[in-house]
Amino acid sequence: MKILWCITGAGQFLPDVCEFIENSKLKITVAFSKAGLEVSQMYGVFSRIKKNSVDTILEETQGASFPVIGRLPKNEYDFVVVAPCTANTTAKIAYGIADSLVSNIVAQALKTRIPVYILPTDAEKMQKTRIPINIDIEKCRNCVPCKAMEKCPNSAFFVSDRVWLRQSLRHVSERLKPLSHIRVNLLKCNACRRCIEFCNYKAITFGKEITVHSRKIDMDNVRRINRVKGIRVIKNLRDLFSRDE
Ligand SMILES: Cc1cc2nc3c(=O)[nH]c(=O)nc-3n(C[C@H](O)[C@H](O)[C@H](O)COP(=O)(O)O)c2cc1C
Repeated sequence: MKILWCITGAGQFLPDVCEFIENSKLKITVAFSKAGLEVSQMYGVFSRIKKNSVDTILEETQGASFPVIGRLPKNEYDFVVVAPCTANTTAKIAYGIADSLVSNIVAQALKTRIPVYILPTDAEKMQKTRIPINIDIEKCRNCVPCKAMEKCPNSAFFVSDRVWLRQSLRHVSERLKPLSHIRVNLLKCNACRRCIEFCNYKAITFGKEITVHSRKIDMDNVRRINRVKGIRVIKNLRDLFSRDE
């Protein structure tokens, strides 16, 4: 079975997707949206996915017309999977927009009767998700020099020009001297996580769980794509390729 698997720019479900592709015996070609590539690097899964796929397609190499979609009418794939599917790409699919790599692949798959499975991030009212490298501003002492910043092989740390009051001191006085903050540019971070061990105050974490609330418009769009002939919306990867349609 040959699969064209599209990864859009979502952290939600991404570790599960990476694990699925690593353990799969299927022939999987992976197409990354521009944001999908960036977010996969932030979570440190891009090279793992690339290593376990037969081919990778990057949106940034596909110009404005996405010539790679020409593979679909030639029956090079049995299924298209979009997992995770961001609220952004879900909205495009819901309204028939095809101006990005993934929305184009879905449009072309439907036109050539190739089944499409979609795992949207915003199907439920509330989701728990994990964020990549994060500096807890409550714990960060803005050390000079900051060892984590010094040791980062990608120079991803920087001192923010913005100034903040420590949250914990806000109630004491709004007139307290504000602090500048050490921050991470996630576009430079490749999730090597070496910085974590260099912070004596345990201010740096990877994979911290947060709760997000879906917008109504995003949940409506999920319902909308679920009604499209040829698309099957799934809630988790266990539902992939199941025959209870
Ligand atoms: C770390 C990180 C995690 C993200 N996770 C999500 C997510 O779970 N769901 C979502 O809809 N957007 C998420 N986004 C925002 C999308 O990447 C953004 O909307 C992007 O424009 C989507 O483009 P695409 O649909 O072409 O991939 C995330 C962004 C970042 C930086």
